[in-house]
Amino acid sequence: MSVKLIQFVRWLVISTTLMQSTVIGGRETNFRAIFNFGDSNSDTGGLSAAFGQAPPPNGITFFHSPNGRFSDGRLIIDFIAKSFGLPYLNAYLDSVGSNFSHGANFATAGSTVRPQNTTKSQSGYSPISLDVQFQQFRDFKTRSKFVRERGGVFKELLPKEEYFSGALYTFDIGQNDLTAGYKLNFTTEQVKAYIPDVLGQFSRVIKGVHGEGGRTFWIHNTGPLGCLPYMLDRYPMSPAQMDEFGCAKPFNEVAQYFNKRLKESVEKLREELPDAKITYVDVYRVKYRLISHAQKYGMVFNFSFIVVAYLNYENVVK
Ligand SMILES: *[C@@H]1O[C@H](CO)[C@@H](O)[C@H](O)[C@H]1NC(C)=O
Ligand SMILES: *[C@@H]1O[C@H](CO)[C@@H](O)[C@H](O)[C@H]1NC(C)=O
Ligand SMILES: *[C@@H]1O[C@H](CO)[C@@H](O)[C@H](O)[C@H]1NC(C)=O
Ligand SMILES: *[C@@H]1O[C@H](CO)[C@@H](O)[C@H](O)[C@H]1NC(C)=O
Repeated sequence: MSVKLIQFVRWLVISTTLMQSTVIGGRETNFRAIFNFGDSNSDTGGLSAAFGQAPPPNGITFFHSPNGRFSDGRLIIDFIAKSFGLPYLNAYLDSVGSNFSHGANFATAGSTVRPQNTTKSQSGYSPISLDVQFQQFRDFKTRSKFVRERGGVFKELLPKEEYFSGALYTFDIGQNDLTAGYKLNFTTEQVKAYIPDVLGQFSRVIKGVHGEGGRTFWIHNTGPLGCLPYMLDRYPMSPAQMDEFGCAKPFNEVAQYFNKRLKESVEKLREELPDAKITYVDVYRVKYRLISHAQKYGMVFNFSFIVVAYLNYENVVK
């Protein structure tokens, strides 16, 4: 149990420290807005707004109370926004106190690329799958234009029309598509077999955003699934299937297979959309390195937080 818990908090801590200097540093920083699509890796309040607040102790180390993130602190997307001098992104679904002038976050914890054929209460997956997030984005874009014309405070709370083409479009989704198959007792071969469909639907959304004027894309690959405590807890592995850092090799191999195919999809998109700038970000490598060299990177574990967060996480997001 404690090994899994340690891995879980590593996972959380990673979210708060990951990208700040490694990937964002050195990039042009003239984006006026960010639009994000994804799952719990980048949800800043979507699932909480729709289905109830992420429970404590989430938020404990940075915001000092729950704030819509399934993390003790900030997420990579928070550091991305900060690195461009922009405020943290509000969730599109959060109707209270949100300011979307610099972008919006369509991610919800538990989201998948493909719409699932199970309800949230059956499987835990968010009904706000990537296709729904794209619809919400389109609606947001269209309505922002009209509502800004009303003037007053709306002009301050919604992005200018030209921000949409100049925005950074970020994506971090796919992890839950992989776990969804295992949840239905699929074999690894069966999970691999539907990955092309997942990536086909993913590419369709990138093209959809491009069709709406988006030109700059920042695409995270999926992390080491086999290091996630809820996977280790749910699907016990034989010692031979574990690596030296306590991660399940078969799940990590599926994640790597997904990433290989994702990278190919991105290469194809670059050919099909020559005027787009598409960056593929190897989050898997960074996360796995942090997990396998936690001490070296100064990870500090709060066991009380770990236990409570783990138990709550199990109940809220699968
Ligand atoms: C849901 O069911 C439809 C119709 O059978 C199928 O085409 C689709 O692939 C299924 N989706 C998933 C995520 O399994
Ligand atoms: C919304 O955010 C923008 C950009 O940070 C800021 O200039 C503006 O004052 C904010 N408006 C309100 C009403 O908070
Ligand atoms: C998967 O297998 C487990 C254990 O045999 C069983 O309890 C569960 O109902 C199965 N799930 C599905 C969706 O078939
Ligand atoms: C550790 O977590 C517990 C419960 O989540 C919290 O009450 C405590 O303040 C945390 N300690 C530190 C040093 O952050």
